[in-house]
Amino acid sequence: MTTSNSKSSETTRGRLIGVGVGPGDPGLLTRNAESAIRRADRVVAPTTSTSQPGRAESVVRGALDHVEFTRVSFDMTPNDVDGGESARERSHLAAAARVRPFLDAGETVAFITIGDPNIYSTFPSLVSALRTLGSTPHVSTVPGITAFQDLASRSGTVLLDGSDSLSLVTALSGAEELEHALGYGERAIVVYKGGRYIREISAVLKRFDRLDGAVVGELMGLSGERICSLRDYDADEASYLVTVIVPARLPR
Ligand SMILES: C[S@@+](CC[C@H](N)C(=O)[O-])C[C@H]1O[C@@H](n2cnc3c(N)ncnc32)[C@H](O)[C@@H]1O
Repeated sequence: MTTSNSKSSETTRGRLIGVGVGPGDPGLLTRNAESAIRRADRVVAPTTSTSQPGRAESVVRGALDHVEFTRVSFDMTPNDVDGGESARERSHLAAAARVRPFLDAGETVAFITIGDPNIYSTFPSLVSALRTLGSTPHVSTVPGITAFQDLASRSGTVLLDGSDSLSLVTALSGAEELEHALGYGERAIVVYKGGRYIREISAVLKRFDRLDGAVVGELMGLSGERICSLRDYDADEASYLVTVIVPARLPR
């Protein structure tokens, strides 16, 4: 069963399902995701270059046989690179133009995406670009296991307990959002997209006396995987696919 987040359209007959496939380990693909992929008329897989499988496609290939993929390319230039935002917007529109004919033909399209489709995924951008083009398919999502859930499990970290709160922040252009979250006191914090600033993240946590217990998971479930305490992480930069968990402060 999937959760619907938009009403059926009278103009576009197709159905678009954002399917979360988990962070990397094919074993974390859920049965609901498998069923959505198997039932779809078409499985659309985002990639940076259509000659190479993207991460989500690699996960599904590791879990399921006999799936055909329609690769659609997405620009991943970050915002802090000149022209990055507009390059990404153009690529969302181009991707929507590619997917639209399938939906207009009444197909059920499963768009696969790593982790969960409602957490920092390209899926909402695709939906929004389709609407810009005047396409209004029925949209729904199938949840996926997130990278931070996998890291909590793999590192033996209890993420939240009792009345703990959680901040999920990004560090694509530095550790400002992390510092902001640390200012709220003893809540747990998850940092996404902090690969380029892993040293700065470590230094900020040390300054706030929150480095103890912080764990890092890089390329989880994928080749090059590394899971360790942030104190032990010695490289100057990490992959884009890196997650940091800062547990809520432990009672002294
Ligand atoms: C575009 S967001 C995708 C998030 C994803 N939708 C989720 O629900 O976890 C990319 C960020 O997710 C985290 N991430 C996703 N997959 C990961 C993996 N296999 N290993 C470590 N971190 C991962 C990293 O922080 C990365 O920068």
